[in-house]
Amino acid sequence: MRYRQGVTVQPLSATSLKKLGIDPNAIPQHVAVIMDGNGRWAQQRNLPRTEGHLRGEEALFECVEGALELGISWLTVFGFSTENWNRPKNEVQFLINFNRQTIRKRRDELHERNVKIEFIGREDWRIPKGLLQDMNDARELTKQNKAMTFTVAFNYGGRAELIDAFRAMTADGLSPKQITEKKIGQYLYGKKMPEPDLIIRTSGEQRLSNFLLWQSAYSEFLFLDTFWPDFTRTTLHKAVAEYQIRSRRFGAL
Ligand code: IPE
Ligand code: IPE
Ligand code: MG
Repeated sequence: MRYRQGVTVQPLSATSLKKLGIDPNAIPQHVAVIMDGNGRWAQQRNLPRTEGHLRGEEALFECVEGALELGISWLTVFGFSTENWNRPKNEVQFLINFNRQTIRKRRDELHERNVKIEFIGREDWRIPKGLLQDMNDARELTKQNKAMTFTVAFNYGGRAELIDAFRAMTADGLSPKQITEKKIGQYLYGKKMPEPDLIIRTSGEQRLSNFLLWQSAYSEFLFLDTFWPDFTRTTLHKAVAEYQIRSRRFGAL
C-alpha cells in the first residue's frame, strides 16, 4: 500500500489487533529493523540497485505507519552503517543524496503524524554539511511530537558508538567505579532510547552487522527471507505476533 498523505494514523482498536493475532497488552515498546536486501530485490528484476533503494523507501514509510497503528512507541531503522562507506563510490554517493532527499520529503508527513524524528550515528566529516543541517532541522521540527520516536541510524556502527561513549566518559573524568551499565547507556547516541525488544532483519541474512551491539543484549531476533522493498505492514503484524509467543527470561527462570 502506498503511504497516504495528510492522514493522522489512528492506533488500531483492541478488537482489530486481536483479529490480527496480536495481543494489545503485549505490544513491544521498541522495534528495531535492519532494512536489508534492496540490491538483491532490484537484481532479481534486472533493475539497477538504486531502484531497490527507492522501493525500500516506500517500504520504510509503510513500516512507520504500521508501527503507529500498532502503538509501538519506538521504531529504529538502520539506514547507513559505518561500513557502508566501503561500497563503490557511486553507490555511497547515491545513498547519501537519497537519505537527504528522503528526510526532506518525509519530515512534514512524519510531523503531521505526530512522530518525533531522531538520528543516531557518528556525526563525522564524511557526512555532508547540508545533510547534517537537514537532520537537525527534522529533529528540531518534530521534537515535541508524542506518537512515536522514529530513529534513523545513519553513519551508525555499534562499535563506533561504544568507542565514542568510552572516549566521552574518559573526557568527563569518570572513575573506574562510576562506569556501570547504566552509565554506559547514558553515553550512547540515543540517550533516552529503551533497549529494543524486537530486532527484525530482512533479506535472509542472519547477522547484526554492527547494529545496536550494546542495546541488543536481550532483544528478540527475527530474521525474515523477505527483501526489504517487499516489507509491508502485514509483515510487521506477523513479526509482532511471532515476538509475542517468545518467552523472554533475561537470564532468570
Ligand atoms: C540495504 O540493502 C540498504 C543499505 C544497506 C543501505 P542493501 O543495499 O544492503 O541490499 P543487498 O543486501 O545488497 O541486497
Ligand atoms: C546492514 O546491511 C546495514 C544497513 C541495513 C543499513 P549491510 O547490507 O550493509 O550488511 P552486510 O554487509 O550484509 O553485513
Ligand atoms: Mg545488504
